[in-house]
Amino acid sequence: MSVVTLYINDRLVSGRVGQTLLKVARENGIEIPTLCYLEGLEPWGGCRLCMVEVEGQGKLQAACLTEAREGLAVHTDSERLLAWRRMIVELLLAERNHTCAVCVVNGHCELQALAAKLGVDHVRYDYLHPALAMDVSQERFGLDHNRCILCTRCVRTCSEIEGACTWAISGRGITSRVTADLDRPWGKSTTCTDCGKCVQMCPTGALYKKGATVGEMVREKTHLQQVMERRQRSGK
Ligand code: FES
Repeated sequence: MSVVTLYINDRLVSGRVGQTLLKVARENGIEIPTLCYLEGLEPWGGCRLCMVEVEGQGKLQAACLTEAREGLAVHTDSERLLAWRRMIVELLLAERNHTCAVCVVNGHCELQALAAKLGVDHVRYDYLHPALAMDVSQERFGLDHNRCILCTRCVRTCSEIEGACTWAISGRGITSRVTADLDRPWGKSTTCTDCGKCVQMCPTGALYKKGATVGEMVREKTHLQQVMERRQRSGK
């Protein structure tokens, strides 16, 4: 197995050839915030929270997609990056409705935790809060578009892990929505297997278990890992 050595935050670290900067950083105990990335799913590069500075390159690079190369000098925690990440979190909070006090994942939400960690105590942008309809047509689960940050973790989990391909993103830009079976009510989906994996992988309260009260929806973070390990063991 070939090894690459590089500098992250002026520290000499090593990783395996083909690994991304994010993986190398995490394996060396260096945290880079992410929202769309989830270990076990194909990286997508949508949230842009994992952007890092690579010396010699003017543009910021997405750590979840950029391959670690020999001799790179990478910075993950500069003032510029902190300001960038704060801005992204603020834009997410401004775009839809993330009123934590009435959200079922209050206290267990990755967006909320990230905002707190980055010191986002106010939002500099106008709130859009478009009052989107909820989809409660599914028997066990609900979809609240108002909480969705379009990270596509549900879409990728459904296609890559469950193989059902129920979820997709329809629309463009600010009108984008997660939709089931090319825009049917979730409860009318003929592909959904009712497995609930998408609900477990959602970082916010967009996908939730019906009947959960505020602050009750704890995500089973090891769920995906367990599914993958079992599949590997059974050779599927
Ligand atoms: Fe890299 Fe979202 S984690 S872009």
